[in-house]
Amino acid sequence: MSGEIKIREVETRRVEARRIGIHSHVTGLGLDKNLRAIDVADGLVGQKEAREAAGIIVHLIKQGKRPGHGLLLVGPPGTGKTAIAIGMARELGQDVPFVAISGSEIYGLTIRKTEFLRQAIRRAIGVRIKETKEVYEGEVVELEVEKEPYPYNPYIQIATGALITLATKDETKTLEVGERIANKLLELPVRIGDVIEIDAETGWITKIGRAAGRGITSKGKTGEYRVARVVERPSGPVRKTKTITHTVTLHDIDIANIRLHRGLLFREEEVSDEIRQKVDEYVNDLIKDHKAELVPGVLFIDEAHMLDVESFAFLSRALEEEFAPVLVLATNRAITTVKGTDIKSPHGIPIDMLDRLLIARTRFPTRDEIMRILDIRAEAEDLKISKEALEMLTDIGEKYSLRHASQLMLPAKAVAEAMGDSIVEPKHIERVRSLFIDTRESVEYLKNELAKDAFLAEFLK
Ligand SMILES: Nc1ncnc2c1ncn2[C@@H]1O[C@H](COP(=O)(O)OP(=O)(O)OP(=O)(O)O)[C@@H](O)[C@H]1O
Ligand SMILES: [Mg+2]
Repeated sequence: MSGEIKIREVETRRVEARRIGIHSHVTGLGLDKNLRAIDVADGLVGQKEAREAAGIIVHLIKQGKRPGHGLLLVGPPGTGKTAIAIGMARELGQDVPFVAISGSEIYGLTIRKTEFLRQAIRRAIGVRIKETKEVYEGEVVELEVEKEPYPYNPYIQIATGALITLATKDETKTLEVGERIANKLLELPVRIGDVIEIDAETGWITKIGRAAGRGITSKGKTGEYRVARVVERPSGPVRKTKTITHTVTLHDIDIANIRLHRGLLFREEEVSDEIRQKVDEYVNDLIKDHKAELVPGVLFIDEAHMLDVESFAFLSRALEEEFAPVLVLATNRAITTVKGTDIKSPHGIPIDMLDRLLIARTRFPTRDEIMRILDIRAEAEDLKISKEALEMLTDIGEKYSLRHASQLMLPAKAVAEAMGDSIVEPKHIERVRSLFIDTRESVEYLKNELAKDAFLAEFLK
């Protein structure tokens, strides 16, 4: 069975760029080692409870523990729920998968929504695979390549074999290698003083660096360049067993196997249950043989109130399974109907799901926090702004929303540039404020306009 399964090495970190854009200043949760939030750190300001709550979840995930189904972040629009989820992704570390989707993505899919969710879940589960390989490793202290003229072109020399002596701090060993490896030695090229690794099984050669004390620069036309990194001469025997680990996601293994069986893969294609079952069995075998460990990651669903009842039912079931990620949901809705039903529920989330989630909240930021967030955003957008203009934006953030205030930044920069100014001043803010309005204003505006017309007023009912 395992012969049919193929593993491919891929990037497990996939927080889509478009979702990160406005949160590019967020580099973590900004916690100290006691998991306490530092006022302003890692691009996050205030929201200490939510950040600390998120930090505890990250801590548990790193220990391989699942806090129920996961975490629900609740708070008014623009208070940093998505930003905190991104902070969690940054904290999780390179090989823990973090998959971000939005509840509204289940509409208008070309595949079934349960299939879409299933794929998202499997992208959020990592498999850390341990492989051992036998290698020869050491510093090249002697190298003799036997060459002879290439039969089809006598001006070219090809290698027919080589004697290569590798030394570690403890041992020196001479290897006699054949034509293929000898040519590879010429091609790389491998020189005396290089520290290299030769895979005992495949003959694959990797240059690790230059041994300390051997020259690492090369003379170019304009001076000397560093061409290699300095490494220590390895210790221990020349021939050794090395363990390497790499992490793939269950979805990566599914996809690799579709390719293996059919060669082709269509975008947004459904993966059959049969393939998934085989992959699960294979992974289970690896785990039993201590060749792999499961790395449950995070499935982040933003705008969770947009999911419908069918999706929630599917998620509830899937999260009870053997392989399951931790869920992080975010919403700004209080009581609303669960989509696909006429039942009202807290946050539009069915009670049975809600019962298995820890809930943390974000709050309206204080004036000082608004100013700091805007200041950080300005920095991230490479926007030079005067103190007075920042005060003015803060007023807008306080009166309307932080989102509206930060959305005005780039237009204000454009206006300043168009006017030949290098710093954003109150006049630029005033100008964009006269052009762009907040949602509350746009709704108010339409209501008033439509009310003027008896026929159109029908739309308001
Ligand atoms: N406490 C904070 N620290 C730093 N940046 C913040 C903070 N709160 C919000 N922001 C920034 O303000 C903007 C809006 O925040 P975000 O999108 O995270 O809000 P949200 O709570 O997810 O809103 P919504 O309910 O509308 O989805 C983003 O650019 C975000 O990075
Ligand atoms: Mg959000």
